[in-house]
Amino acid sequence: MSELVRTHRDGDVLVVEIDNPPVNALGPGVPEALAAVLDAADRDDGVAAIVVRGAGRTFVAGADIATLEDAAWGDEAAAADLHDLLRRVEQCRTPVVMAIHGTALGGGLELAMAGHYRVADAAAQVGQPEVNLGIVPGAEGTQRLPRLAGVAKALDMCVSGRPVTAQDALAAGIVDEIAGEDLTASAVAFARRVAARSSHPLTSERAERLGDPETNAPLLAAARAQAEKIRRHQVAPLKAVDAIEAATRLPFEAGCRRERELFFECVRGEQAKALIHVFFAERAASKLPEDMAHLTPAEIRTIAIVGGGTMGSGIAMACANAGLDVILTDATGDAVAAGEAAIRTNYDATVARGRLTPDAVADRLARIHLTPPAAFPARAVEADLVIEAVFEDLALKQRVFREIDAAARPGCILATNTSTLDIDAIASATSRPEAVIGLHFFSPAAVMRLLEIVRGSRTDLDVLVAALAFAKRVRKLGVVVGNGPGFVGNRLMFPYMYETQFLVEDGATPAQVDRALAGFGMAMGVFAVDDMAGLDVGARVRKALGHFSDPRERRPLVHERLVAMGRLGQKRGAGWYRYDEPRKPTPDPEVEALIRSLATDAGIAARTISDEEIVDRAILALVNEGARALEAGVAARASDIDVIYVNGYGFPGWRGGPLFYADRRGLGEVLARIRAFHREHGERWRPAPLLVELAERGGTFRGGALHGRAGARSR
Ligand code: 3HC
Ligand code: NAI
Repeated sequence: MSELVRTHRDGDVLVVEIDNPPVNALGPGVPEALAAVLDAADRDDGVAAIVVRGAGRTFVAGADIATLEDAAWGDEAAAADLHDLLRRVEQCRTPVVMAIHGTALGGGLELAMAGHYRVADAAAQVGQPEVNLGIVPGAEGTQRLPRLAGVAKALDMCVSGRPVTAQDALAAGIVDEIAGEDLTASAVAFARRVAARSSHPLTSERAERLGDPETNAPLLAAARAQAEKIRRHQVAPLKAVDAIEAATRLPFEAGCRRERELFFECVRGEQAKALIHVFFAERAASKLPEDMAHLTPAEIRTIAIVGGGTMGSGIAMACANAGLDVILTDATGDAVAAGEAAIRTNYDATVARGRLTPDAVADRLARIHLTPPAAFPARAVEADLVIEAVFEDLALKQRVFREIDAAARPGCILATNTSTLDIDAIASATSRPEAVIGLHFFSPAAVMRLLEIVRGSRTDLDVLVAALAFAKRVRKLGVVVGNGPGFVGNRLMFPYMYETQFLVEDGATPAQVDRALAGFGMAMGVFAVDDMAGLDVGARVRKALGHFSDPRERRPLVHERLVAMGRLGQKRGAGWYRYDEPRKPTPDPEVEALIRSLATDAGIAARTISDEEIVDRAILALVNEGARALEAGVAARASDIDVIYVNGYGFPGWRGGPLFYADRRGLGEVLARIRAFHREHGERWRPAPLLVELAERGGTFRGGALHGRAGARSR
């Protein structure tokens, strides 16, 4: 028998274990092996019931996404058709109890729903996350889930892609029982209880929760509206609704055929290619490079944070949320109190939104030890990691690092949250530059998933490995980047931001630019982002990075003027936009007049700018600088840049990130467009040599951008 599926007997119950590490995906061989075991069990009169579980850390995490990727790129036969397996499971003479621990996702939940019964570990989660990959459930999930859980629940799970807890699944009717401490024992006991029943429930034959056209119509309409809202521009969520609608109208088999058609429509589309690319790119980014695979990361349990402002307080929450202890200090007792107040306000808002209970918040607050500056050196010795988050000022950071160096224990990692400064210059202030690393969190730090891990020229590999493990521990996506100006994310951001500022000088308005970028799929327009971050922040960074020191370069005219006028963005009620209501940007004729007058004085005649030009000039500025970042070696892989932009800068995942987007558009066309901009706008548009090289030899970023470095899974 295949090793992919093992069995053992517990009296008259056959326990079947799917063992396909790491997450028991239904990859090649698994469906066949499982079907063979069920065939044999059904023929064996000594087997009264069957329990199916996953080996290791989880039940089945779904269909094999690697084969789905092959299907998305043209090898459609690679996408396993699980229909025969699921029919086999459901038609077993012997009752089948699915024992779920970890996560039953996608094809995993679909397999579980084909069983007659489901018992779940209390900590398990189940879901249909296929929309995250740009597809709809393709193994009867859209047909079985509404039959078990009702139309509304199925719509919510398939459109949002969010998994639900075992308790929620029990309440919804997806699982039948929550297990005690020992899942297998509970499932076996359950199996014995049901074995003697004369018949067992078949999900495919249930119809009582499918509603009727009248009650379903508003649910389907609401789901389509939800899809437009939370997954704007995405195809799969709407098709998932179509598939569930089919479940409500068609017999089971016909509904499954409709689902399969919709599944392949998605698999063939661009969005599935892009989102599957992002899935593998994220895992590739956070994986240890081969030369470090042998290193065991030092455990980080206690984190000291110096500077409890916007970032420091958010980082403290991120750590406490992950169950870590935090020692938080600032320059003065008042500043510590202000940090604490910010943390409490944020947690209160989370409670008000129903996302956390007051008890959970109390537990997290108890982990954050507020420490006045005088007491800090004595407490800092407890820390395994110190994160500095004081103002962005090199001299100040060096001074703070000298103090931290004196206080921290040997072996402690010293990290800075700087967004632009040279890690080596900061490290040079300490007696242990090998222990210094950049941990560049994004704002709001408790929410944003991206963490740029900046490797200084002397950073120890052990420190890097520990930082990657820490990222995972605090549920961040750690991406290792080099120590160049702006690292990767901000390095690309500036050409993008400046280009949009030139666009408004050339005749567009901030609102038009932001609309065009939102139309492209960016989460927020660039001017709205600048207002949110604060125009003063951008101005400081621009100075720190020494931009526009060459007088021949075109220099943005308006930003500095807005800063001088005190229009610093949302916090002042005015920036590029006006904010009559908090966080709601309104186009401001005063700013538009200012732009026109400054541009006219500089001899720039306003012209009509198309949305297409806006998108090309903004997005291709990202692409060209992305190629330079790869060349400079600050990004190790093209796919790392994609991951950073999707997770940190609101780039649409369904376009796969800037470099994937460029690949799909065709590097030849991208280069031609950049060359045209170069002729028209001058040196800032000089094509990156790597882009020229790839375009001229018909290559792609994904296929291997540089010196054999490839994307996530090269193709
Ligand atoms: N297929 C293939 N590989 C998978 C996989 C899958 N469904 N799910 C995870 N993996 C791989 C990852 O690529 C990674 O491989 P690596 O170690 O070589 O990089 C490894 O498993 C571990 O994954 P994570 O690093 O993500 O581990 P975590 O413990 O953090 O998370 C998880 C585990 C929650 C299962 C997470 O991996 C996950 O969410 N996976 C995707 C689940 C999913 O989307 N399932 C639906 C698939 S599509 C489908 O089923 C279609 C069907 O309807 C026909
Ligand atoms: P902030 O101004 O909100 O907070 C800085 C804090 O440092 C203040 O509370 C201040 O009192 C404290 N501080 C100053 N000197 C100190 C000292 N000697 N000892 C202890 N504390 C001291 O600034 P913010 O936004 O939190 O930024 C902090 C760092 O994070 C900067 O390096 C910034 O570049 C970086 N960063 C900021 C992001 C953002 O979006 N705000 C994003 C990513 C990084």
